[in-house]
Amino acid sequence: MVFDIYTLVEALWLIIPAYAANGLTPILGLKKGLHPIDGGRKFQGEPLFGEGKTWEGLIFGTFVGGLIGLIELLAYTYLPFSISPIPLNIVPMSIILGLFLGFGAMSGDLAGSFIKRRLKIPRGRPAPVLDQEDFIAGALAFSLLLIPLEIDWVILLAVITFIIHIAANMIGYMLRIKKQPW
Ligand code: CTP
Ligand code: MG
Repeated sequence: MVFDIYTLVEALWLIIPAYAANGLTPILGLKKGLHPIDGGRKFQGEPLFGEGKTWEGLIFGTFVGGLIGLIELLAYTYLPFSISPIPLNIVPMSIILGLFLGFGAMSGDLAGSFIKRRLKIPRGRPAPVLDQEDFIAGALAFSLLLIPLEIDWVILLAVITFIIHIAANMIGYMLRIKKQPW
């Protein structure tokens, strides 16, 4: 089953470092003088990635992923996974897996911006589905280098991430952390 509580727990356990990386990086946008990864370079007349993709963001997101990986690792023994009536497939979280998830999330996000610029969508303008799913695709792709994934997790995460991402960005916008509500 894709949409059950067991799949949800397993999938969230895996993806929290990526959510944190992607969700916290916009805080950097409050700072001026960050360094765009594309260094202002253009490709076919449009920015390669755009001003919103910075080295600071890539590094910070990767670090956040690793930190959350560590926190999950430390929390593991205190969590009641064993009381589940169905044995859960909880991936062994680690700093390394967290770093991969964080870096993967930021890479997917970067690839998403690359595609947006090729479609001539300016920085910060919405690209439905792509805006929500790019980081999750990147995070899952990189995690696959370390662990096997269940297809159910991928499907469930694609669905709930779309909903959570929209809700989280609305909140970020209301808190004035994000400049646009998407
Ligand atoms: N950010 C960053 N570096 C990254 C990714 C994100 O500094 N590698 C920060 C930027 O301040 C960015 C904000 O997080 O504006 C929100 O990220 P996102 O919504 O992905 O970027 P947008 O500015 O909307 O640009 P795009 O249209 O390319 O998605
Ligand atoms: Mg955006």
